Amino acid sequence: MIQLKNLDKFIESRFQRVFILKGINLTIGEGEFLTLMGPSGAGKSTLLNILGLLDEDYEGEYFFGDRSIKSMKERERSSLHKSEFGYIFQAYHLIDELTVYENIETPLLYRNVPSSERKSIIANLMDRFNMVAKKDLFPAQLSGGQQQLVGIARAIAGKPKVLLADEPTGNLHSGQAKEIMEVFQELHREGTTIIQATHARENADFGTRLITMLDGKIETDESI
Ligand SMILES: Nc1ncnc2c1ncn2[C@@H]1O[C@H](COP(=O)(O)OP(=O)(O)O)[C@@H](O)[C@H]1O
Ligand SMILES: [Mg+2]
Repeated sequence: MIQLKNLDKFIESRFQRVFILKGINLTIGEGEFLTLMGPSGAGKSTLLNILGLLDEDYEGEYFFGDRSIKSMKERERSSLHKSEFGYIFQAYHLIDELTVYENIETPLLYRNVPSSERKSIIANLMDRFNMVAKKDLFPAQLSGGQQQLVGIARAIAGKPKVLLADEPTGNLHSGQAKEIMEVFQELHREGTTIIQATHARENADFGTRLITMLDGKIETDESI
């Protein structure tokens, strides 16, 4: 489904080229639940951003299905990003001025989903995450775990094929973290491809494949 060939990302400083990612070769099949681990600065977030089409500044090839991302026009890339990817951030990135309901609705508005369909999608998600009673609250009125559930609901509202999560439990207690991982596990069972970066080894155990990174390179790659 996803294939990276000899991918490099670097920044040119005055005296030298500094590699952030170097020689990444990676094939990810549909339905995998893959975890990226590695110390801070290893390149996990950079790789997730490239995978999610949020960063186009790299060398090498990226194929999504049989389509080369580099050969696409900006508009095609942007529509591929919107239709196929959901993104979950460590710090939730909810919109403070919008209610839970409105936060989940935003990607559906971008995608011009009709009003009645939006209502039913959001009602289902709120039901699934036990947030029906919280639909009119604002993010600041929720716990961290609840905010992240809203982040997940927003990311999956558009039924993305690929869910990218950058340290989704980084700000949560272990109980809340487990709850988030169980949601991922369920989405994985339903066929969503999941790629998460995490510091917590126990989060990796919910997945099927573990890649460790160091200094912009893939160090190990194993099935679990
Ligand atoms: N736009 C950028 N300009 C300069 N350095 C960057 C940029 N983006 C990331 N880096 C550097 O690249 C390295 C990898 O960063 P990152 O992908 O955030 O690692 P991780 O998520 O594994 O902690 C870090 O050393 C970071 O400082
Ligand atoms: Mg990071």
